Amino acid sequence: MEVKTSLLDNMIGVGDMVLIEPLSEDTFIENLKKRFDHNEIYTYIGSVVISMNPYKSLPIYTAEKVEEYRNRNFYELSPHIYALADEAYRSLRDQDKDQCILITGESGAGKTEASKFVMSYVAAVCGKGQEVNKVKEQLLQSNPVLEAFGNAKTVRNDNSSRFGKYMDVEFDFKGDPLGGVISNYLLEKSRVVKQPRGERNFHIFYQLLSGASDDTLKKLKLDRDFSKYNYLSLDSATVNGLDDAASFRTVRNAMQIVGFMEDEVQSVLELVAAVLKLGNIEFKPESRCNGFDESRIKDKNDLKEMCELLGIEQSVLERAFSFRTVEAKMEKVSTTLNVAQAYYARDALAKNLYSRLFSWLVNRINESIKAQTKTSKKVMGVLDIYGFEIFEDNSFEQFIINYCNEKLQQIFIELTLREEQEEYVREGIEWTNIEYFNNAIICDLIENNKNGILAMLDEECLRPGTVTDETFLDKLNTVCAEHQHFESRQSKNSKFLTDHSLPHNCFRIQHYAGKVLYRVEGFVDKNNDLLYRDLSQAMYKANHSLIKILFPEGNPAKVNLKRPPTAGFQFRASVGTLMKNLLTKNPNYIRCVKPNDKKAAHIFTDSLVCHQVRYLGLMENVRVRRAGYAFRQAYEPCLERYKMLCKQTWPHWKGPAREGVEVLLKNLQVPAEEFAYGRSKIFIRNPRTLFFLEEKRRQCLEDLATLIQKIYRGWKCRIHFLLLKKSQVVVAAWYRRFAQQKKYQNIRSSALVVQSFIRGWKARKLLRELKHKKRCEEAVTTISAYWHGTQARRELRRLKEEARNKHAVSVIWAAWLGTKARRELRRLKHEARSKQAVSVIWACWQGTKVRREYRKFFRANAGKKIYDFTIQRIMQKYFMGLKKTMPSMSPVDKSWPARPYGFLDRTHQELRRIFHLWRCKKYRSQFTEEKKATYEEKLAASELFKDKKALYPSSVGQPFKGDYVEITKNPKYQKLNSLAEDKVLLADVVSKINRANGKGAPRIFLLTKKSLVLADQKTGQVKASVPLLDLSSVSVSTQSDGFFALKLKEGSTSAAKGDFLLSSDRLIEIITKLHRIGAASADRNQINIDISDEFLVQFKQDKVCVKFIQGTPKNGNGVACKRKNNRLLEVSVPSP
Ligand SMILES: Nc1ncnc2c1ncn2[C@@H]1O[C@H](COP(=O)(O)OP(=O)(O)OP(=O)(O)O)[C@@H](O)[C@H]1O
Ligand SMILES: [Mg+2]
Repeated sequence: MEVKTSLLDNMIGVGDMVLIEPLSEDTFIENLKKRFDHNEIYTYIGSVVISMNPYKSLPIYTAEKVEEYRNRNFYELSPHIYALADEAYRSLRDQDKDQCILITGESGAGKTEASKFVMSYVAAVCGKGQEVNKVKEQLLQSNPVLEAFGNAKTVRNDNSSRFGKYMDVEFDFKGDPLGGVISNYLLEKSRVVKQPRGERNFHIFYQLLSGASDDTLKKLKLDRDFSKYNYLSLDSATVNGLDDAASFRTVRNAMQIVGFMEDEVQSVLELVAAVLKLGNIEFKPESRCNGFDESRIKDKNDLKEMCELLGIEQSVLERAFSFRTVEAKMEKVSTTLNVAQAYYARDALAKNLYSRLFSWLVNRINESIKAQTKTSKKVMGVLDIYGFEIFEDNSFEQFIINYCNEKLQQIFIELTLREEQEEYVREGIEWTNIEYFNNAIICDLIENNKNGILAMLDEECLRPGTVTDETFLDKLNTVCAEHQHFESRQSKNSKFLTDHSLPHNCFRIQHYAGKVLYRVEGFVDKNNDLLYRDLSQAMYKANHSLIKILFPEGNPAKVNLKRPPTAGFQFRASVGTLMKNLLTKNPNYIRCVKPNDKKAAHIFTDSLVCHQVRYLGLMENVRVRRAGYAFRQAYEPCLERYKMLCKQTWPHWKGPAREGVEVLLKNLQVPAEEFAYGRSKIFIRNPRTLFFLEEKRRQCLEDLATLIQKIYRGWKCRIHFLLLKKSQVVVAAWYRRFAQQKKYQNIRSSALVVQSFIRGWKARKLLRELKHKKRCEEAVTTISAYWHGTQARRELRRLKEEARNKHAVSVIWAAWLGTKARRELRRLKHEARSKQAVSVIWACWQGTKVRREYRKFFRANAGKKIYDFTIQRIMQKYFMGLKKTMPSMSPVDKSWPARPYGFLDRTHQELRRIFHLWRCKKYRSQFTEEKKATYEEKLAASELFKDKKALYPSSVGQPFKGDYVEITKNPKYQKLNSLAEDKVLLADVVSKINRANGKGAPRIFLLTKKSLVLADQKTGQVKASVPLLDLSSVSVSTQSDGFFALKLKEGSTSAAKGDFLLSSDRLIEIITKLHRIGAASADRNQINIDISDEFLVQFKQDKVCVKFIQGTPKNGNGVACKRKNNRLLEVSVPSP
């Protein structure tokens, strides 16, 4: 029946104290020490986990470890906090049981760390998803925020929780977290204003001053110097292993993740800064005439800055520190505060400010992390409350903290020891009672409504008359003197009268965890927790959103004259609620033990551990577990779980569950002493029996799985086989079809082959017969052909013979004639040669004769003749070359070949000139009469105007057309045409210059041989007609303008109106034609052409000077004419 599990295998010491042998305090401590030395910090007592603080980080909280413990049985692996967390989470998720994890132990034992490990484990194993992860992250990140504001360094713990925390994490039916609710219990607010030696204020003050940026500090009006703040103790301002600056960043980040708005964070920091400032406000006495001292603020700078931070009117706060208003029966009485009272008021304000801020933070976090759905939830509560504390100087706070621990111990006893024993009785199991210390008596001493210490304190606080701490102690001495756990020097109990370890102003309580001496000083004040109404009203008036919320009682509209409940009362009530809450849940215990007082790793102080083991009641716990049964379960679930282990119960048991379990255990041969049958539950004594059952179950499940697997595989194979079989039939059918097809095709192709062979044979036979027949026919034809051929050739030979004979005759005849002819030719040739030879010989003879005769002359003339001959040859070559390179016949062609020889230069030029003259003559000879006249006109124009008038060059290219308005064709000008008796020499539109203003008007200018006429351009109506005889001269300028003046002979009929001043682009043609008419007619003098830039004209009676000037006329590039005055008409011509 031995089952191997890792809880039992290779274990250092004993993993579960229930299994320790022999059981004594020494072996218990020895086992803890052995395990602690090997870094095994967790040990079980049944389902309770003992956790030793290792004071060093161990590699046992990794993601791999989480996976290792996930969904594993509690006893399956070596003890770990994860095993407990997993067990709690799974029974919450699978069995729908609300859980609570109670972490207890004294200060510094590792409760807060343990709670964080539990939370992180649950976060790691529960569901995932964007929304779920956000919830998890917010739940986890609430820790750094609360730790910064609620934890502080104490002599026992560098990160001591100075408040109690209970966090309910809510899950849905799947086990996914939905949100959470945090409850906080009594913050140790006295720490804000005073810290014991070696301790420091809450972390946030140091974190803010170390970690905030310069800018933030400036805004908060703070200096980065702890020594400047009275509320900050200096001896432990920096703590080894704590990086305040980094923690500040973590806190800010956590606040952001939890959902704090930026302005909320700022408000919180302002309040923290205000508390620091408040601590710096100091008071001095000022004597009054009534003999009393009244307090006055020494240096108002800090007050001013604090008021600025919180938006409070300085004078209001200042007054609240000097006066106190007491309201009684509708009457208000204002009394002055002395310096001590002012300090008391200041500190009370600081403590209230901070503790209310802390409660606000918890509420704000709750708002963020609260579950969004209203569906039913399962809850896992994690309680991390301040640990049991014994200081040198213990006050009201320690009393409260230790009371709370008493209550937790009570609950532990209730549920583990008493409840366990009671359950055995209830179930009718034989049981020998185990003695244990029940601390209910101590709880009663503190919380009893009639004569409990808290009730006495409240009574004293509410009592009229003078109430002091001493009167309170007196009261205790009378009321509690008989109580066996209460000790006081002045109590009736005489045994303490001489106890010098018990000072007069103290009382001692024997707590479950040891005796604690409490100094009564401050009990009454702290319980009253009094804040003067003037101060809360001053705070309410603040122009600061957060402060207003924190001090609602300061609202003058809601003045409540009733005393607020005392701190002790409130705490007792909240602890009561907590206990009730815890009792509704399935508890899981983590008992934290502190190995030494030095916060050091590797040190195990036996006495300290022994003390904790005693007061935590761990020995009793083991004893009860050992005497009793390790495991119990109702019959139904037990049978349901293990029914597969026995054939009778598997798969269904028809009878009652208890009988089923009996059959089952009998069948499994579990020894009778290992279990007991209760009324509703089966009790298993030893965990090993449970492991045995579990192991059997696991194996059975494996067998079942194998069976399922086997059947499944069989089924799968059969399906596969049937499929194969079906496929085989299909394949065979297809194959047979294919084979038959192939066979048929073979037979068919063979038949075709045979058939084709026979057909071939038949064909060949027929072919042979046909061929034979054909050959016979061909033979006959051939023979006849041969015969015919022979006959024909014979005839041909005969005929050829005949022809040859004839041809031979003719050839012989021809040959004979040829021979005769050649013979004659030879003869004639010979004859001619002979004649030529005679003449040649004759000529030779003659030549010889001549040469002989002239030889003497030749020598005298030879040089000249050779020279002449050479020159002649050169000239010949020159002329022949010139002939080829002659230029064109155009008179304007200036080209002429280059001269080849220098001595021919003049000849060459002369030839060029002659050629040009000849060419011009040739050109002229082509002219018609009309063209000739035109050229003559052009020539005359050239003579008249070339180099004299700037307009001339532009006229050279224009042909002189004469009639530009086509007067003969245009019917409008019929009348005008009739005026020109003979030929129209020129008709054009000119501009007649107005004599008065120099502006032009278009007119038709008509020139005939005898007169010139000016007519209207549109109508053709004659405006003026001047016989040429009356014209004396024409004046023009030298410029490029078209102005001309027609001057009339004085005394002529036409001269009555005066001279005409006209303008035309064709001025050159007009004047040339006018001039030529004069030259052509014999009865007239030639008209004078006067070319000058200044001339006179006769306008009626006036002689006007027409003056041409160069300049830019206003209207662009044209010519402008303007009558300047009576004597001057100015024409401006554009510069060339
Ligand atoms: N499991 C652990 N591993 C490593 N260090 C630990 C562990 N548990 C506790 N510690 C160390 O011990 C210190 C004190 O632990 P913790 O703050 O949890 O004590 P506590 O029981 O909550 O005390 P208090 O009652 O004063 O709040 C921690 O700051 C940490 O340094
Ligand atoms: Mg703590």
